[in-house]
Amino acid sequence: MTAAQSTAQMRARRSGTLKGRVRAPGDKSISHRALILGALAHGETEVEGLLEGDDVRATARAMAAFGAEVERLGEGHWRIAGRGGFVEPADVIDCGNAGTGVRLIMGAAAGFPLAASFTGDASLRGRPMNRVLKPLGQMGATWICREGGRLPLTLKGGGLKRISYEPPEPSAQVKSAVLLAGLHAEGGAEVVEREATRDHTERMLRAFGVDVVSEPDGQGGGRISVSGGERLRAARVRVPGDPSSAAFPLVAALIVPGSEVTVEGVLLNPLRIGLLDTLGEMGADLSVTNVRDEGGETVADITARYSQLTGVEVPPERAPSMIDEYPILAVAAAFAEGPTVMRGLAELRVKESDRLALMAAGLAACGVAVDEEPEGLVVHGVPGGGSSANHGVKGGATVATHGDHRIAMSHLVLGLGTQAPVAVDEPGMIATSFPGFTELMAGLGAEIA
Ligand code: S3P
Repeated sequence: MTAAQSTAQMRARRSGTLKGRVRAPGDKSISHRALILGALAHGETEVEGLLEGDDVRATARAMAAFGAEVERLGEGHWRIAGRGGFVEPADVIDCGNAGTGVRLIMGAAAGFPLAASFTGDASLRGRPMNRVLKPLGQMGATWICREGGRLPLTLKGGGLKRISYEPPEPSAQVKSAVLLAGLHAEGGAEVVEREATRDHTERMLRAFGVDVVSEPDGQGGGRISVSGGERLRAARVRVPGDPSSAAFPLVAALIVPGSEVTVEGVLLNPLRIGLLDTLGEMGADLSVTNVRDEGGETVADITARYSQLTGVEVPPERAPSMIDEYPILAVAAAFAEGPTVMRGLAELRVKESDRLALMAAGLAACGVAVDEEPEGLVVHGVPGGGSSANHGVKGGATVATHGDHRIAMSHLVLGLGTQAPVAVDEPGMIATSFPGFTELMAGLGAEIA
C-alpha cells in the first residue's frame, strides 16, 4: 500500500436502485491453495480464474521464492511449474496481509529441510501464529519468533514425524497447515475437527493425486488424514467466484429499495454458505440458478432482490461456514426489523482486525444500536431502514478500518442505504481480496467514490 492510499478516504452515499449481473472475483482460499499445491507438485499446474488480489499475489511471489516457476499468462490465468518440493528461499518471505498465505506456506515449508523467514504487514505481524507453530513444533519443526508467536519469525523444517492434532479453535488454516506438513512427515498427519471447516485443501489435494481420508463423526466434525511421502501431480485448477466477495453486492441489493443484482459463478461449497442460509432466514429474496459443477466444486448464479429483513439469532455452530461474512451480515442486520444475535465469534477478534470491535464501533457511529459482547454482537436493526429519505440508519460517519478490507467494504455497502454518506479510511486495502470492488459496485449503480 502506498502512503497516498493509506490516507485517502472512500465514501458511499444512498444510491438509487442497484441493477445488473456481475462476476465475483476468484475465491481467495482456493487461489492461495492452487499456487501452493502447484509449487509442491511435479510438473506444470495451470490455474484459471485466480484471484489477483494483493494477498494472493504475495503467495505467488512466495512460491517463486521457494523455487517454483510462476508465470502470469493472462487475466487470472497462471502457470506454476513445481519442483515437487520447496528449496530454501534466499530472502525473507513477505506475505503482506494474508493470514491464510503465511499459515499454509509455513505448514508446507515445514516439511522440507530448510530455514525460511516470514513477515507481513502491521496487521499480519499482530496476528497469532502459535496456532500453527504449536502443531508444527510437535511434528519436529523449530522456530524463533517475536513474543506471543508473532511475525517476523524464522522456521526450520525437515525430519517431521506424524501427529494427530485436534485444534482448539475451528480453523481451516490450522487444519491445512498440519495436512500440508503431513505430506512430508514420516507417517503423515491427522487432524481431528470438532466442527467442520472449509475443505478446499482436502478437495484440491485429491485433485493433485493425494489420498486424503475424511471420516465425518456424524456430529459436525471428523478426522482428516494424509499419509507421508505423497507425490503431488500437477493439475488444472479452475477457481470459482468467491462467496465471501459476492456477499457485498448481494447484501447491497437487499438493503437498497428496488434493487435486483445477480452474481454469477459463485462457489456453493456447503462449508462456505452459512451467510445465504442466514439471509434466507431473515427473509431475503435470494434465488440460486444455473447450478453446475466446476472443477470438483458446485457453483451457481445468485440473485438478490431488495427485501424487508427481520432479525434472527444465528446458530453459533454455523460460524465456521460464514466466518468472514459476519461484518456484512451485521450491515444487513442494521436494516432488519428487530435484533440479530451473533454469538460464538471469539475468532473474529483475531482476523485482519478485531472485527467485533470495529463493526460495533462503525455501526454505532452510524446510529445503529449494537451490544458488543466478548464473543458476539447483537445488532438492533432500524425498522423501515432504507425505505425513505428521512428514515432508517443515519450514517454520516467516517469509519476507521484498521486496514481491514472486509470492514471497509461492509461500511461502504452500509452507506448505500443510510441517510447520510459513510466514509472509510484506507480503501486501498480492499485490493487484498476484491480488486475492482468500487468499479463493480459502480457498474450496478452504487454511488461509491
Ligand atoms: C481461510 C480460513 C478462515 C478464513 C480466512 C480464509 C482459509 O480462517 O477466515 O479468510 O482459506 O483457510 P481461519 O482458519 O483462521 O478460521
